[in-house]
Amino acid sequence: MEDSYSRYCYLNGKYLPFNKAGINPLDLGFIRGYALLEVLRTYNGKIFAFQDHYQRLKNGTDFLKLKIPLRSQQIEKIIKTLIKRNHVKEAKIQIVLSGGIGKEGLGIGPNPTFFIYATPIHLYPKIWYEKGVKLIALQYKRENPQFKVSNYVEAVRCHYLLTEKKAAELLYVFNGKVFECSTSNIFMFKNNVLITPNHEVLPGITRKIVLQLAKDRFKTIIRNITLEEFKKADEVFITSTTREILPVVQIDNYKIGNGKVGEKTKFLMKEWKKFIEKEYCK
Ligand code: PDD
Repeated sequence: MEDSYSRYCYLNGKYLPFNKAGINPLDLGFIRGYALLEVLRTYNGKIFAFQDHYQRLKNGTDFLKLKIPLRSQQIEKIIKTLIKRNHVKEAKIQIVLSGGIGKEGLGIGPNPTFFIYATPIHLYPKIWYEKGVKLIALQYKRENPQFKVSNYVEAVRCHYLLTEKKAAELLYVFNGKVFECSTSNIFMFKNNVLITPNHEVLPGITRKIVLQLAKDRFKTIIRNITLEEFKKADEVFITSTTREILPVVQIDNYKIGNGKVGEKTKFLMKEWKKFIEKEYCK
């Protein structure tokens, strides 16, 4: 049996082995994609930015009119239990809250489905951080981008392109404007100014911390950015919980800057490492 299936997860009030955790096929998350997702991680066994993730989930529930069935301390405790029980050293944690079994079809059910899972985290290849990666631009923009609604149809549908075109992420571009990547935020440096797209993106937790770390050293601006501007940027990088800061050296066939990982991105990567060591590894 595959290892992950013998691990425990939390589903609707119970700790269950993964292969015993069943969800009703009439669940609105399954039938209509009505669900929220949070992806968290640990550093040194400690949950990274838990309160930020909880708040983002909460914001999503206000929008989707769902209710988180537990308080934040209870969720934190469940995650810690799963990490311990599954003997996971460094974890990737997924929290899913869905509409439950619909009332009269599309009505939100009385009991949401609440699922938490912790698996060992698989980090990205070291060479990606040393040499930088390629992005592929797609004509797409997420609906309700401020929330982490679990509808990732475009990301899943186009995932094969990453292997086909030897790229690391899909870049969402709409009407010439750049928004975010399929599971990460994006930044560019132009003339010592750090710029990232504005509100029509997921308010990434890594993005927020990177902006804080950058502000003493660089001017930071949050505004609309076109794909043309990105192609002419000095440096580009993407951020997410699982990637941290990942440098980008190519978008489609366009080389960014001199095609190498830039010095300013390297500086921020070092600052990120220092921040994590200070906050989580002492
Ligand atoms: N993705 N934008 C989108 C669309 C995302 O799905 C994510 C996170 C981010 C970055 O957010 P954060 O820094 O809070 O992780 C931006 C996770 C990692 C995923 O879906 O696997």
